[in-house]
Amino acid sequence: MKSILVTGAAGLVGNVLRAQLRGQYRLVLLDREPVSDVGEGERAVQCDIRDTPAVISAMDGVDAVVHLAGQPTEADWETIRDANIEGCYQVVEAARRVGVRRFVFASTNHVIGYYPRSQTIDETCMPRPDTRYGVSKAFGEALLRYYADKFGLTAVCLRIGTVRSPDAPAEYRHLSTWLSHGDLGRLVHCAIEADVHYEIVYGVSRNTRRWWEDASAARIGYAPVDDAETWAGEFPDDDLRDDPVASRFQGGVFCSWDRD
Ligand SMILES: NC(=O)c1ccc[n+]([C@@H]2O[C@H](COP(=O)([O-])OP(=O)(O)OC[C@H]3O[C@@H](n4cnc5c(N)ncnc54)[C@H](O)[C@@H]3O)[C@@H](O)[C@H]2O)c1
Repeated sequence: MKSILVTGAAGLVGNVLRAQLRGQYRLVLLDREPVSDVGEGERAVQCDIRDTPAVISAMDGVDAVVHLAGQPTEADWETIRDANIEGCYQVVEAARRVGVRRFVFASTNHVIGYYPRSQTIDETCMPRPDTRYGVSKAFGEALLRYYADKFGLTAVCLRIGTVRSPDAPAEYRHLSTWLSHGDLGRLVHCAIEADVHYEIVYGVSRNTRRWWEDASAARIGYAPVDDAETWAGEFPDDDLRDDPVASRFQGGVFCSWDRD
């Protein structure tokens, strides 16, 4: 059984993923916060991702890193820089030094938030970040392209849409962006196992209203099964319709924040 290091394991996506991957892999669960209920096949490591000796020690013997830890939404520059620029760099560099084979990176749809909702895009489109947060994730994607090409650290960057707990859309926009827990598990499994060099894949379910159609999903073998349309009746109108920027662009309110 392969051993996988999951950073940010105490967070929302980390907890969902843990449940999905349990039994498929041995898991090393790293977070600066305590990880609860550590079970069979799991080991917890409590440290900051910028504590390089501790991160290197946690990577001992792992086959892949799934890097979730970081600032998961917009914040002041110092917070973004420390967690998503410096922190991401330290984890990627540690993986290279240890000789990890595969790096799976939790990127975000906010890398491409300024594409209009009327446009379907794929994994080859230019970044159009909607926030400092989105810019920091574009940095992570570029950093991993560099590490793949120069050092052979193969990578899959997941432009995650919306993961929620409970596992259902909570607003109109999520009918396009939702990623179910089951599809998240399938996606990360494919990202760990696929024989690829570097890919960007959208982390989205088979939503009827999705804005993202990527050939890279098939290249890693990801075939989502869930569709947010099941909840369409609960969200007949766009709750952002009074905000012309948020309702026009894929990033929603991330596009209208900070404009004044
Ligand atoms: N939830 C979503 O819908 C969504 C969408 C797109 C992308 N993502 C990305 O997925 C990842 C996880 O998001 P989430 O929603 O679970 O966020 P979260 O805040 O629930 O989890 C993040 C975890 O990272 C840990 N962390 C933060 N900084 C750290 C540091 N310096 N050292 C060690 N641990 C640190 C936190 O303690 C937390 O447990 C993030 O990178 C986020 O950008 C999430």
